[in-house]
Amino acid sequence: MSFHTGTGHLDVVTLDLHDESEDTRARVRGWVEAVHRSFHEQTPSDEHLEKWLTVQRGEEAVLRGVWEQPDLPLAGAIPVATFGYFDKHLNTGASMLLVRMITDVTVSPTHRRRGLMRRLMTEHLDEAAREGLAVAVLTASEGSIYQRFGFGVATTEQSVRIDTSAKFRMRRPVDDDGRVVLVEPGPGWESMRTAYERFHEATRGSLERPGYYETWLRGYDWEEQGEDRAQRVAVRLDADGRPDGFVVWAVKEVDDAYEVRVRDLIGVTPQARLALWQFVADIDLADVAVATTPNLDPLPLALVDHRVVRVRQRPDHVWVRVLDVPAALAARPWFADDVLTLRVHDPLGHADGHFTLGTADGRVHVTPAGESEADVEPDVELDVETLGALYLGGVRVPSLVDAGRLTGSTDSLERFAAMADGGPTPRCATHF
Ligand SMILES: CC(C)(COP(=O)(O)OP(=O)(O)OC[C@H]1O[C@@H](n2cnc3c(N)ncnc32)[C@H](O)[C@@H]1OP(=O)(O)O)[C@@H](O)C(=O)NCCC(=O)NCCS
Repeated sequence: MSFHTGTGHLDVVTLDLHDESEDTRARVRGWVEAVHRSFHEQTPSDEHLEKWLTVQRGEEAVLRGVWEQPDLPLAGAIPVATFGYFDKHLNTGASMLLVRMITDVTVSPTHRRRGLMRRLMTEHLDEAAREGLAVAVLTASEGSIYQRFGFGVATTEQSVRIDTSAKFRMRRPVDDDGRVVLVEPGPGWESMRTAYERFHEATRGSLERPGYYETWLRGYDWEEQGEDRAQRVAVRLDADGRPDGFVVWAVKEVDDAYEVRVRDLIGVTPQARLALWQFVADIDLADVAVATTPNLDPLPLALVDHRVVRVRQRPDHVWVRVLDVPAALAARPWFADDVLTLRVHDPLGHADGHFTLGTADGRVHVTPAGESEADVEPDVELDVETLGALYLGGVRVPSLVDAGRLTGSTDSLERFAAMADGGPTPRCATHF
């Protein structure tokens, strides 16, 4: 497909990652280079490119790029825009829903703010809806880009600095017959995989991890493009000897002191998470640990002095976009039995409409209103990005009502809150 913008003709190409022809290989390298440039990473080495390609093929990822037509002076193999996606399961709290994961959205500075990203995104959301995906997810480099496409912030993380000096003391030591064991990254992989699978099964908001996690957790540094010899791993085993968590970290020297950089900390249970934070605090010669993690709980509440954990930021993490209201809502949990009508506004059309929600025994039955019912006053009204924000329970209905994002009578809003709110806070430990 090709189209015209103010800067000339452009070709949109979906790459065939199994095509070994010279032209496609050059485009693949160019595509990765464009992404690396946009996210300020180093030019990919040949070895790095092969590792990356192996992972993308395994994922059956779809990579799309926009190239200037080759007759333009200096037009090359590096595209002016990139867009990628693959499908993985999201734990909604009631089921495992296959969702579209959108990634590597970039536009070259030479072509920015001319509608390229809007075009790639809107066409892709149409495609995902046609393919039957009920939900799309992404993570954002900036907070103000994606609401206009119907995405709402559904999970957050916490960026923390923890004082691991003698001030770090648990109110009660973790004592559940589990063990923390130091392992080497390669041999430790199977235990990490098992622990992550258990975490994913048990955790609302968790996304299945793409294949690059295995490469990384086995010790390959995707940013530095080489073996990461500073990376350390400890696995936590439950009382039956089964892996129920792990922590991955590196110690860095900062201003003549050591700092533990926690890169990944997964615990299936609160006890496993506490035990792993205690392990981090016990690493000698370092009095500080830093992490960006969804898995901080229940640490501050378990400490003698909760101030040893300083939350520096609470960044948004997973943004949810509902594409099919009946299918998406049927996949998540419900917490009170009732019947309500909902009006969802979606400028892109996918989720737009009136819906009747009937909840019973934790499940919902959603019926799109017929034409004759479409004029009937709805009980609750909201935009599709607000539906995405509340989808996983990370933000509760009353907070969104206070922010002016849901409207209806007080009674209807309270009834909707009773239906929609409940269950655990979502935690996602997958970055993409
Ligand atoms: C973010 C990026 C993809 C935008 O691409 P683009 O082609 O310039 O975007 P478009 O021209 O299609 O803009 C689409 C809409 O998003 C808005 N927008 C684009 N970039 C924005 C930004 N950084 N902040 C806020 N709004 C932005 C535009 O104003 C436009 O709004 P409108 O259509 O409602 O008027 C591009 O700047 C980029 O590659 N940045 C570096 C990499 C990056 O951050 N990628 C996002 C990863 S999640």
